[in-house]
Amino acid sequence: MQYYQTDNFTLYNGDTMNLLADNVRQVDMIFADPPYFLSKGFTMKSKGRVKCFDKGDWDRERPLAEINDFNYKWLSLCRNWLKDNGTIWVSGTYHNIYSVANCMVELGYKILNIIVWNKPDAPYTLSDSHFNFSAEYIIWARKTKAKRHYFNNDLMYQLNGGKRMSDVWNIPTTGLWEKSMGKHPTQKPLRLMYRIILASTKEGDTILDPFAGSCTTGIAANLLNRNFIGFDQDKDFLELGIKRHHEIKSPEVASKYLRKMSENPNETMVMVNHARKDLRTKMLETGICYLRAGDSKGSILVTPGFERLQYLLLHTGGENAELYRLKTKGHFQIWTAETLREYGFNPEHASYYIVLHFDNAKPIEFKRKVDLKQQLNTYRAKIRPLSDFIGIK
Ligand SMILES: C[S@@+](CC[C@H](N)C(=O)[O-])C[C@H]1O[C@@H](n2cnc3c(N)ncnc32)[C@H](O)[C@@H]1O
Repeated sequence: MQYYQTDNFTLYNGDTMNLLADNVRQVDMIFADPPYFLSKGFTMKSKGRVKCFDKGDWDRERPLAEINDFNYKWLSLCRNWLKDNGTIWVSGTYHNIYSVANCMVELGYKILNIIVWNKPDAPYTLSDSHFNFSAEYIIWARKTKAKRHYFNNDLMYQLNGGKRMSDVWNIPTTGLWEKSMGKHPTQKPLRLMYRIILASTKEGDTILDPFAGSCTTGIAANLLNRNFIGFDQDKDFLELGIKRHHEIKSPEVASKYLRKMSENPNETMVMVNHARKDLRTKMLETGICYLRAGDSKGSILVTPGFERLQYLLLHTGGENAELYRLKTKGHFQIWTAETLREYGFNPEHASYYIVLHFDNAKPIEFKRKVDLKQQLNTYRAKIRPLSDFIGIK
């Protein structure tokens, strides 16, 4: 029996083994964040820090044979749900991930990647007898060796500043901004789900999460116009998921989350700059783009993200937007108006200018957002994540 349903968000409550066996449908992608079986059931205090080694009964340590049986069973049931060209992602740490990988191979899945999710803000591990834990692993596999899967490689290239994306992802842990409705003890970050969903699904696809918890997968799926089916045995967690689902019905909240989700602190940034027609022609001729440095009182306004600036998006009042690669990442010079004049420009408004050198040979192709023109239609120069302007279907 369904626990909750709208046209794009369906939840079932119960043991995932039964739910997977009883309700088989065909889905395009599965994301599973199963028990890692690492909870020890106690809280420890050391050097003034308190660490809880208990995520819940569902995550208690178990003998390896039991862990293997559990993983084999749900992974085998998941295969019936996946379309032939579908893929599955499973997260874990050393406690469960080797078992998951072995079961997958035995069941005939083809492993595509093992993503190392590096958390730059990982909390300190209490014990000093080993390195700090700062990574989780996410296995990405397709249903069979024989049938090709979907991978949005072009988009991953673009989100990675025009370079091939690697299997090591630097994504921070779940932020306070995504816990406004309450929190789950092992809630995944929306930013992680954003990348996974964009890499392996298209708009309108259906995603299953057999261990949904607070439904982070479903929230990211809906924000990106995908459908979601989630299972969990704990009604309180599903209720949290439903609250989160209601929360994103507000267009303001949805657009805030979409923006935050795409704003990976490691993401490529773009300088968006309006230039009138004649100035633009000169900029394209010289490969020099400039903008006023600060206000008339002489301060320089350097926006966060400057160090990740890799592109220039040049437009004229929102029209004719073209994307260019900067010659050096996160690098700018301060020139006087006089120096600019030596290069044939005619700056009139300030004494100092920020100068960016860009590769003027040819603009870079990119998938434009439908509302790109409205988005750009401002005369203010701004630094934004590249994904703000890319059509991410
Ligand atoms: C690691 S958490 C998932 C957290 C989720 N990714 C999120 O962001 O909130 C695993 C979830 O699986 C659920 N779970 C564990 N064993 C289960 C089972 N046999 N059947 C259904 N749910 C189960 C737990 O209640 C827990 O919420």
